[in-house]
Amino acid sequence: MIKRALGIDVGGTGVKGAPVNLRSGELAQERLRLLTPQPATPSAVAETVFELIRRFGWSEQDGPIGIGLPSVVKQGATHTAGNIDPSWIGCDAAALFKDCTGFPVTLLNDADAAGLAEMRFGAGRDLPGLVVVVTLGTGIGTALFYNGQLIPNAELGHLVIRDKDAERRAALSARERYEWSWKKWAGHVSEYLGELHRLLWCDAFIIGGGASNKFDKFAAYLECPAPVRPAQMANLAGLVGAALATLPPVKAKARP
Ligand code: BGC
Repeated sequence: MIKRALGIDVGGTGVKGAPVNLRSGELAQERLRLLTPQPATPSAVAETVFELIRRFGWSEQDGPIGIGLPSVVKQGATHTAGNIDPSWIGCDAAALFKDCTGFPVTLLNDADAAGLAEMRFGAGRDLPGLVVVVTLGTGIGTALFYNGQLIPNAELGHLVIRDKDAERRAALSARERYEWSWKKWAGHVSEYLGELHRLLWCDAFIIGGGASNKFDKFAAYLECPAPVRPAQMANLAGLVGAALATLPPVKAKARP
């Protein structure tokens, strides 16, 4: 059983990383954050990731490396680019990271990574059925779980509601952009969660991303047909989940 992995979370403004204890979800060393290079092209980001690896003095014997990206990721290739350079679209990112850093890496979507961490160690530990982890930050990321099993690459932040991409009104950045009160913004989040529920009949939502540590400010205004919980792992969920993604996939339990 692998004991530790280096988890890295690539965001629009920061690239964060830390060695993670995979049994407890705790950081084995303090987190480091470097600025995301601009433009955030695949090779520039790979250089920044290499710098993080170097700063931790990480070697292959220390454990595997997992990286969360704001992109749909399939078999190591990135297919979309949320708040990063469009050149990620159609990029064989796993091969590029290997060339640039010398390390094989496991890549996954950043919201899927945050969701894995919340479901294993945080707010979703005890939640069966259909759970949607919604990260509200610059954009909206979503991670779908059924009985704890991830269904990867759900891009439900881009659901179109009243002719607009949901991100435009319900991401945390929309509140800042339009200078909305918490109450007004919570109305848009409620509309968004309501729409997700109408289509998916979710058993619970977990709100993560930058909005999770502001949950107290808007929770009272939320209206949602399913229970809504705040995420518990704050800004560490992405990197802890990226580290978890290096573990071999767990087989879903057969249910009668
Ligand atoms: C992207 C997602 C990403 C989310 C959060 C969205 O714009 O499409 O892939 O998970 O932002 O970063």
